[in-house]
Amino acid sequence: MKKILFLLIMASITMIGCTPTSTQQEQTENTQNAVIDAIMARRSIRQYHATPVSRDTLMQIMECGINAANGQNKQSWEVRIVDNSATMAQIQDLMAAGNAELDPAMVKGCMRGAPVMVFIARDLNYDFSAYDCGLLAGNILLSAQSMGVGSIVLGSPVRFINDAVNSADILHILGYSENYELCLCVGLGYAAETPAAKPRDINKVKFID
Ligand SMILES: Cc1cc2nc3c(=O)[nH]c(=O)nc-3n(C[C@H](O)[C@H](O)[C@H](O)COP(=O)(O)O)c2cc1C
Repeated sequence: MKKILFLLIMASITMIGCTPTSTQQEQTENTQNAVIDAIMARRSIRQYHATPVSRDTLMQIMECGINAANGQNKQSWEVRIVDNSATMAQIQDLMAAGNAELDPAMVKGCMRGAPVMVFIARDLNYDFSAYDCGLLAGNILLSAQSMGVGSIVLGSPVRFINDAVNSADILHILGYSENYELCLCVGLGYAAETPAAKPRDINKVKFID
């Protein structure tokens, strides 16, 4: 009997210890966590060190990318990673040649000097594929941030490639399947700058009662 009483008392003490009081709950809610830290610390990086990002690190980032929510789990994306400077230069040269009316330095500079470029194409047969690609890119940015890798989403290279007169030559290098269209680029690399956060307008968010 004494033993049972002892066990009951011990169980109650343990339960009291595990049940958060309101103060503990508030503390938990106010405590930063790794995901929130990564979201709030991420900034678009436009200056990079030449230091390469290892393929192990890149694959871990891509695993996070492809684990994004996506419509009907169709995974309506195809991802191509260029992490060698020769191929990057080849693509940039073709982009400049294919947009001859534009300043070549401006066209090449649209990749912001990132040593790794992730080219994301969307499945034209799926109407929500652009959202899938955006969510994939979001996971790439945040997982990269959490691993100390800087990033930037880039729309300009998409325009310069899709609108180029030699678009087919550039896309041939990336080797997408038929019915896939280049949709978004993400630059990755080790940041050589620490930009301040740009202001956000919380008034665009409203509760409707
Ligand atoms: C769809 C999209 C396209 C973008 N295209 C470019 C681009 O072509 N060049 C560039 O320098 N930044 C580009 N950005 C980065 C934005 O300028 C940047 O995210 C925005 O100014 C907010 O700054 P932050 O990312 O540092 O918070 C793009 C971002 C998104 C989401």
